[in-house]
Amino acid sequence: MLEVKRRPRASGRGRAREFDPGRSRPSGIIRCALHRRHWTKRQDGRYRAHYRAGRKRSQVYVRGVRVETNAEFLRQGRRVALRRITKHDREEFLGLVESSRALHRRWIVLPTTPDEFDDYVSRFDRHSADGFVICLAKRRSMVGFANLNEIVRGAYQRGLIGYGAFAPSAGSGYMTEGVDLLLDYAFTDLGLHRLEADIQPGNIPSLKLVRRLRFRKEGYSPAFICIRGKWMDHERWAITREMMDTRPG
Ligand SMILES: CC(C)(COP(=O)(O)OP(=O)(O)OC[C@H]1O[C@@H](n2cnc3c(N)ncnc32)[C@H](O)[C@@H]1OP(=O)(O)O)[C@@H](O)C(=O)NCCC(=O)NCCS
Repeated sequence: MLEVKRRPRASGRGRAREFDPGRSRPSGIIRCALHRRHWTKRQDGRYRAHYRAGRKRSQVYVRGVRVETNAEFLRQGRRVALRRITKHDREEFLGLVESSRALHRRWIVLPTTPDEFDDYVSRFDRHSADGFVICLAKRRSMVGFANLNEIVRGAYQRGLIGYGAFAPSAGSGYMTEGVDLLLDYAFTDLGLHRLEADIQPGNIPSLKLVRRLRFRKEGYSPAFICIRGKWMDHERWAITREMMDTRPG
């Protein structure tokens, strides 16, 4: 019968003990990138394993919620960055929507359950709609979201933007910076020519935001969008690529 010889396993728990300090006695610090540890020599001549601080980069936690760290930044500003929303954002996004209910209630409707979140993300096929989050450039935690909806190509090259801050960081200027990053991305990388925003006349923070970004008011549509069962009037704001080029500063 064929005898299969197995390599003897390292003694002790897992691979952490494979390095036998008693025999090898290397000098200085030995790094093991694969197992995220290094060894240092103790005073008694033995070696001790240290594990690199922190979790894998894809598993950073902010206030107990896993933060998506692998998604690539499409644009980075002074304080915030823009990246696409992914299915891994579910926990963080839903937690922030929950804590932002009072801020959003009158103006927008967002997913509140895992299934609704999955539907929301699957809507962003990058042809008719594209979804993004605005996050802190350093900590990568989310401060808001911004979407491109109703994208029309051909002779139009237009999109409708939607956005919202998350309550803990609203009123810090992050949204103005983040939506500005989206404008740049949409006009430059996506090749759109015109971006529109429909805003209820009473939504002062949103009106201030588009004014800061130099949108122009183009019209007023009574009973335009149905929000929580009521047809609401909306002001029609827009910015074109040419207008971006002539913005001050
Ligand atoms: C509309 C909305 C996104 C605006 O968000 P916001 O937090 O006010 O926008 P910003 O992050 O750009 O913050 C701007 C405010 O921060 C202030 N601010 C504080 N520190 C700042 C800093 N360091 N840099 C710049 N601005 C700063 C600004 O003065 C400004 O306040 P002001 O508008 O009273 O003058 C937010 O109110 C929201 O989510 N509303 C509910 C959803 C909604 O209405 N979406 C839009 C539908 S059309």
